[in-house]
Amino acid sequence: MSPFPLTRTLPEDATDAALRSDVLRGLTHTPRTLPPKWFYDAHGSDLFEQITELPEYYPTRAEREILLARAPEIAAATGARTLVELGSGSSDKTRHLLDAMPDLHTYVPVDVSESALRQAGEALIAERSGLHVHALIADFTAALTLPDTPVPRLVAFLGGTVGNLLPAERAGFLDSVRALMSPGDALLLGTDLVKDASVLVAAYDDAAGVTAEFNKNVLTVVNRELGADFDLDAFGHVALWDAENEWIEMRLRSRRAQTVKIPAVDLAVDFAAGEDLRTEVSAKFREDGVRGELAAAGLKLTHWWTDREARFALSLSMAR
Ligand code: SAH
Ligand code: AVI
Repeated sequence: MSPFPLTRTLPEDATDAALRSDVLRGLTHTPRTLPPKWFYDAHGSDLFEQITELPEYYPTRAEREILLARAPEIAAATGARTLVELGSGSSDKTRHLLDAMPDLHTYVPVDVSESALRQAGEALIAERSGLHVHALIADFTAALTLPDTPVPRLVAFLGGTVGNLLPAERAGFLDSVRALMSPGDALLLGTDLVKDASVLVAAYDDAAGVTAEFNKNVLTVVNRELGADFDLDAFGHVALWDAENEWIEMRLRSRRAQTVKIPAVDLAVDFAAGEDLRTEVSAKFREDGVRGELAAAGLKLTHWWTDREARFALSLSMAR
């Protein structure tokens, strides 16, 4: 039994149903796509943590620098009694916020990865005796119901994960976040910023090959969960900068013509040699764009902080 409340907002088989439907939709259309949330089984969550320590992957370090410098301002500006964190993962950087919020009543980490939630939640409970932790296993793109906890709330969405949503998904997502918030609540949003393409591509195609393994992990998940026969060696990792959309795309490129069988959805997918499967977009932002997207969702940006090299930004916005 877990030593803290862990609420599953979807029935267990909903994950399976969602994976089937995403696989059916994404692999029967060209270009072929899979949503990035399927990277994060226990192994994928571990691989992501390894990515955060790679020399090429600057976003985690840059965001940590901002949090370390600004956590007291964030705490003072929000007066939050509840911290809700979407896509919380290891909750590692969150500790800097928690350190600056001694009066925080409840922390609500929300993630699709049960392993990450358990590991992080158990460690936080052990470290911080006064803090209530109520974890939610949930898809943050679906309707969320938050536990009844003291207000005001600060909703944090760190790491630049908002960039893994396509623009239309992002607009819908920000609308639903706004709908969760009451006047006086705040949103703390981490966004990676547009920069030199060579820096960006290196961050998603590291020399040690950890990101390549993370990318291919989605195939392992589909093999295990849906009985598919993806041969991981038959796909190559691709990271490219799309200058028009200002996003990085991760793809898996078929090394040869091949047919992949996915029995659980009764599907056989033909890949041509060189054909790509898009597994992730990671959008990079500019201040005006972030301000505009937040405003469209009814949120007023009040603070914009970057690291010293202006690689990454944290913004604070208020429900209006
Ligand atoms: N916030 C952490 C982790 C970022 S990795 C950081 O800044 O380092 C992205 C996290 O979001 C992972 O833990 C992953 O499991 C989670 N995630 C991805 N898509 C999700 C979704 N649709 N719903 C809920 N969690 C999701
Ligand atoms: C979680 N997300 C913000 C990461 C990113 O940078 O888009 C996921 C990732 N993909 C490859 N490396 C890291």
